[in-house]
Amino acid sequence: MSPFAILAAFALQSPDSGAELYHAWCAACHGQDAQGTPAASVRTTVPPADLATCAASTPEPAERWRGVVARGGAAYGLSLDMPAFGEAATPEQIRWVVRYVRSLCGSAAWPPGELNFPRGFLVEKAFPENEVVLVNHDREQNYIFERRFGARFQIEAEARTAFDGAPNSFDGASLAGKLDLWHSPQALAITTLGLEATPRLGRQDRWEVEPFLAFGWSPHEVVTVQGQIVGTWEEQAGIAGFEYRLGVAKDFGRVIPMVEAGWVVPRQGDHALSFYPQLWMQLSRLGHVAGSIGAELPAVGPEPRRPKLIAFLLWDFGDAGLFKGW
Ligand code: HEC
Repeated sequence: MSPFAILAAFALQSPDSGAELYHAWCAACHGQDAQGTPAASVRTTVPPADLATCAASTPEPAERWRGVVARGGAAYGLSLDMPAFGEAATPEQIRWVVRYVRSLCGSAAWPPGELNFPRGFLVEKAFPENEVVLVNHDREQNYIFERRFGARFQIEAEARTAFDGAPNSFDGASLAGKLDLWHSPQALAITTLGLEATPRLGRQDRWEVEPFLAFGWSPHEVVTVQGQIVGTWEEQAGIAGFEYRLGVAKDFGRVIPMVEAGWVVPRQGDHALSFYPQLWMQLSRLGHVAGSIGAELPAVGPEPRRPKLIAFLLWDFGDAGLFKGW
């Protein structure tokens, strides 16, 4: 190979080419610094997305951004203003330019969207979220609000109702916080420590505090494994027991079948084991609205052990407005 050919090959391979492509193709709209401020001559009907700040760029997987760049915003229910580059650019060029914009965050503290594994019925997600979730579990409803703070922290507020014929249908409320302890984009794994507190409210007659450890892992992206260990401390009774939760999911794109198991080990009384087969479904084209349907099947534990239907709807409001992205 001539020195020139080597140099040309190097120029093509060099990570700088992502930056060059960005400035040639994207900067007029998304801004020189990629923070979403277009050049003065450019008019778009919706503001171009911020591609640079960590809070905006890390929660989504790179694959989706490559999809938006290749197929255009409209393919994901976003604005037509975001053009499709799939005809003009090679898949490598799209890879480079997306890698470039995603490198602009420059902080490894933010877990990447690849670690945002699908939500199950039982296992708490390890990934910090901006999300609203409505759950129906037999005749009980949960209303969940989750909000991120910074790179690793998230708070969660939850209220519960039960329309089961008993007089007080307000079941209770809890407040929780969780902290991403460790994550690795290479290992595709994330571990989170959390604490949930449930005060004496509604049908809840004593304080309850539950520390937990949760993890998510996708070995070789073949399946997703999520797990959680929960300890329960109750006012007066002290340590009431432990619960071990494990789930396995297989990603088929817009649908993700999943099965979870929950093993409850109280300090006094009978153990209980239940299985939770479920089907997670992406509802919006953007993927920020999703639902899941399945059941709780008690296998071991106190009678009566009858199956219960479970379903939830979730909206990732950090990603896009509820009516956008369809
Ligand atoms: C003509 C203006 C324009 C150009 C050129 C352009 N974009 Fe966009 N892009 C937009 C607009 C506007 C949006 C916001 C769409 C919306 O919110 O509905 C957007 C959205 C995006 C998104 C989605 C972000 C998210 O949070 O979902 C990505 C990723 C993106 N652009 C990357 C790029 C890249 C990379 C390039 C260059 C290869 C590029 N864009 C070129 C206007 C443009």
